[in-house]
Amino acid sequence: MDWGIKNRLSQIIKPETGHTVMLAVDHGYFLGPTTKLENARQTIDPLLPYADALMLTRGILRTSVDPEASVPVVLRVSGGTSIIGRDLANEEITTSMEEAVRLNAAAVALSIFVGTDYEHQTLTNLASLVDKGQEYGIPILAVTAVGKELGKRDFRFISLSCRIAAELGASFVKTYYCDDFEKVVESCPVPVVIAGGPKLETELDAMKLAHDAVQKGATGVDMGRNIWQSPHPIAMIKAIRAVVHESKPPEEALEVFNQNK
Ligand code: 5RP
Repeated sequence: MDWGIKNRLSQIIKPETGHTVMLAVDHGYFLGPTTKLENARQTIDPLLPYADALMLTRGILRTSVDPEASVPVVLRVSGGTSIIGRDLANEEITTSMEEAVRLNAAAVALSIFVGTDYEHQTLTNLASLVDKGQEYGIPILAVTAVGKELGKRDFRFISLSCRIAAELGASFVKTYYCDDFEKVVESCPVPVVIAGGPKLETELDAMKLAHDAVQKGATGVDMGRNIWQSPHPIAMIKAIRAVVHESKPPEEALEVFNQNK
C-alpha cells in the first residue's frame, strides 16, 4: 500500500488496537436536519475527544468543526439526492479530491447502491474516486447503502456489496451488521466497519451490535444516531469505545455507560 494511504488509514484505524470508533455525522447530506444534528456543532463538539475519526460533509466540517481540532476527517464526497426525492440512489461525486486535500481529509467516503438502477453509476464513480485517491494518497471508504428499495440487510446482499467495493479498490468498507457477518468479513479483503443504523431501543442493544460485529471481525464502527441520539452521548461513545478497543462485553460496557452518564 502507498505510504500516504497507509499513514492516513492508521490515523483512523488505531494501530494500538487495530480498531476504530468513527463518529458519523454526515446524515444531513440527504436527510437534512436530522434529530439531534439540527445544530451540528453543539452535538459534535463534546464528542470530538472520543472519536477516532469524524465522518461528515465539507459544509458541516467548515461551519461546525474548529480547524484546530485534531480529529481525522473522513469526508463524504457523494450525494446529490434527498430523502423526499424520487431516486435516492442517484448519487454522484459532489466534492473533488483537491477539495478533500485542502480540507486535510484522512479519507473520503462515497456510497454505492448495488442492486439499483444506479448500481453502474455509483460503482464506476467509486472506481474513479479510487484512481484519484491513488494520485493523492487518500484512502477511499465505500459505504454500502441499503434501504427498503434496495437489497435487504442479509448476508448475500451485504457480502456482494462489500466484496465489489473491495474489488474496485476501496481501502475500507462501511456496511451493516447481518447474519453470518463473519463470512462478510472473511470474503472482504479490506477492513469492514459497521454503521449503527436508526436508534435502537436501548443503549445495551447498540453495545451488543458493536460487540457482535467486532467479535465477528469488524474493524470497528462508524456510528451516528445510536451515539448522539442517546440522552447521554458522551457516556455512550465511551461505552462503545470500551467494546471496540477493549473487547468489553456489552454488560461491562453498560457499566461504563452508567458510570459516565
Ligand atoms: C449514510 C451514512 C451514515 O453516516 C451512516 O448511516 C452511519 O450512521 P448511523 O450509525 O446513524 O447509521 O453513511 O449513508
